[in-house]
Amino acid sequence: MANLNVSIAGVEFKNPLIAASGTFGFGHEFSELYPLSALGGISCKGVTLEERPGNPPPRIAETPAGMLNSVGLQNPGVDHFIRDDLPWLKRQGTEVIANIAGNTLEDYCSMAEKLSETAVDMVELNISCPNVKQGGVQFGTSCAGVEGITAAVRKYCRKPLMVKLSPNVADIAEIAAAAESAGADVVSLINTLTGMRIDIRTRRPVLRNNTGGLSGPAVFPVAVRMVRQVFRRVKIPVVGMGGVSSWSDAAELMLAGASAVQIGTVLFRDPYAPLKITEGLNRYLDENGVKNVSELTGAMREW
Ligand SMILES: Cc1cc2nc3c(=O)[nH]c(=O)nc-3n(C[C@H](O)[C@H](O)[C@H](O)COP(=O)(O)O)c2cc1C
Repeated sequence: MANLNVSIAGVEFKNPLIAASGTFGFGHEFSELYPLSALGGISCKGVTLEERPGNPPPRIAETPAGMLNSVGLQNPGVDHFIRDDLPWLKRQGTEVIANIAGNTLEDYCSMAEKLSETAVDMVELNISCPNVKQGGVQFGTSCAGVEGITAAVRKYCRKPLMVKLSPNVADIAEIAAAAESAGADVVSLINTLTGMRIDIRTRRPVLRNNTGGLSGPAVFPVAVRMVRQVFRRVKIPVVGMGGVSSWSDAAELMLAGASAVQIGTVLFRDPYAPLKITEGLNRYLDENGVKNVSELTGAMREW
């Protein structure tokens, strides 16, 4: 058996599989199917300073190889998360990542400060949500915006800080470099790609929010390309995600440069995917004589 442990910014994950934010809630439903200790970690649903109802429905649409969502950060608020979800999550034997989103810079700083007093293992800064009117992606699409918010949050965040990047930019490597220079310990990518569908009978957009974020297998090649670009540009670890649905996808994203892999949309189709992916990855490592999964990170051969 290969060693599946990965160490990222001082946090030890027992394997490189992490549930992606917004696709695993706070873990309660999945814990009825299998022990959450099977996962390397959980990135929790994005929380905001105050509770949010999210966007009005319809807010999910199927696409040929994935889905469009415009959930709009429905969540119970950071205080509820800290009081009601975190203590339970910390007993599940997996690393817990708090994903935060805000309307303003002050929101982000205040949440980072609160979470620094708790047992969360890492904070993931979501500056890439395409589905909210204020905040979210508006901080994440320019180098100055990313640098400003990362530097501000860094002052308040005493946990390892992972900055989650948007693919809806011209040069993701420059954005990642901006996060690194402002004090990020890790970058994660990709969030969803902005998309839109129209109902040809009603001639209205399928989603009430008009646009939504595209995720699932359709975005996987984009994720591989961007993870590679970012891996080559920055020295901090890269956590990869976007359309991973099998163990071979996970291996591929690690070869591109990911130190760990988050999985999201596949969980809606197969909630057991993390178990299957970990098992398949393990077999692949054994068959190829690889002793540590971390040896895959960035090991793609250039032509
Ligand atoms: C329904 C849904 C809700 C999401 N909510 C969040 C969120 O709250 N915070 C966040 O950072 N990303 C959120 N995401 C983005 C995912 O974490 C992930 O970056 C993206 O879906 C790409 O990975 P995937 O193709 O494996 O799903 C959400 C995605 C989906 C499909």
